[in-house]
Amino acid sequence: GYPLHEIDSVPSFSVDSANLQKQIDELSSFSDSPAPSVTRILYSENDVLARRFIKNLMDKAGLSVKEDAVGNIFGRWEGSEPSLPAVSTGSHIDAIPYSGKYDGVVGVLGAIESINVLKRSGFKPKRSLEVIMFTSEEPTRYGISCLGSRLLAGSESLARSLKKTVVDNDNISFLDAAKSAGYAKTDDFSNVFLDEKSYSAFVELHIEQGPILENEGISIGIVTAIAAPASIKVDFGGNGGHAGAVLMPQRNDAGLAAAELALAVEKHVLESGSIDTVGTVGILDLHPGAINSIPSKSHIEIDTRDIDEKRRNNVIEKIHESAVRIAKRRGVELLGFKIVNQDPPALSNELVIKAMESATQVLNLSSKMMISRAYHDSLFMARKAPMGMIFIPCYKGYSHKPEEYASPDDIANGVKVLALTLAKLSTN
Ligand code: GLV
Ligand code: MN
Ligand code: MN
Ligand code: MN
Repeated sequence: GYPLHEIDSVPSFSVDSANLQKQIDELSSFSDSPAPSVTRILYSENDVLARRFIKNLMDKAGLSVKEDAVGNIFGRWEGSEPSLPAVSTGSHIDAIPYSGKYDGVVGVLGAIESINVLKRSGFKPKRSLEVIMFTSEEPTRYGISCLGSRLLAGSESLARSLKKTVVDNDNISFLDAAKSAGYAKTDDFSNVFLDEKSYSAFVELHIEQGPILENEGISIGIVTAIAAPASIKVDFGGNGGHAGAVLMPQRNDAGLAAAELALAVEKHVLESGSIDTVGTVGILDLHPGAINSIPSKSHIEIDTRDIDEKRRNNVIEKIHESAVRIAKRRGVELLGFKIVNQDPPALSNELVIKAMESATQVLNLSSKMMISRAYHDSLFMARKAPMGMIFIPCYKGYSHKPEEYASPDDIANGVKVLALTLAKLSTN
């Protein structure tokens, strides 16, 4: 391997962009919705096929592959000092309904390619390098975001609830779904928790999912912090009834309560006075869901985020007050107000930031410091290791929709920065 001081001169990194693009395209074919959209839901048939595809690529890269009880996948390149905490990188490959092929995927396939790049360059790591594919970063199936990394970070409450209480919309328990995909041999999920000394650093490569890098013509975003996400589930109940026969003064319409709460979410978010506060109602279900029946039940799910945790928590409180007030005024019952998660923001580590920054300089790539408004597995890995994230530009900032796109050149830049950052961190 080349000596450490050579890492500060331009290394001869060759990214196989054509092959990487082929892998991105092939992975996108494991989807439950037609191209160009991608839908890949936790433990579905396509998810299992996609996992096989990833393990095969890790194997081809010469990594030794392991999986844990929820299907986080680890591919390890043993360093010359394997007893030292390793340097890890990775992301997710699950995809929300009708999304694109780059979210998460670039940080998994790109990470495997960064290992190939380092190997081709003749580099030999001191600390082991590890690529991680995290299970279910997206909350689609079980309503839990960053399920795999949240558990790795040691969430006792998640380990407990995965044992029994968690079911999907078809009433399939997490345990049964995980078993059907070949995981969860026992229901003790605490064995997924990471030891404190597992990793000396964690770095995630990801598309920006925003327009800043593209607009400013900058190659690399160096993430300094990840915004604080929260999600809430609310249920209202009313008497329902015939849409023609029940006159307006006699109604207690659970659907209208949900609609009013959705508008209240927007109002409270705007009241924060900061452009950094956001709120979304992406799910609104009415029961029985017939045009001529007054909704007797409604269910809404709220996503709200901010870079300022206190300000976000204040919005959550106001949403709760509104839910209580709306229910009372409309004579419906507030059947549930459940805060599913209320996560604090995460800060990147100074030394990891330095390593990423100097990698961009050595590689002669423009960069800027930025915050991540989307959440990532890095939000949880930051609890177990010094964390950093590398962003690359994506077309018009599009994400979570089929038009999501990142160019092969931008992806190659990200892979090079990741490779060099891993190399630097592995010699620390
Ligand atoms: C994850 O995909 C997010 O919603 O930020
Ligand atoms: Mn996503
Ligand atoms: Mn993602
Ligand atoms: Mn995300």
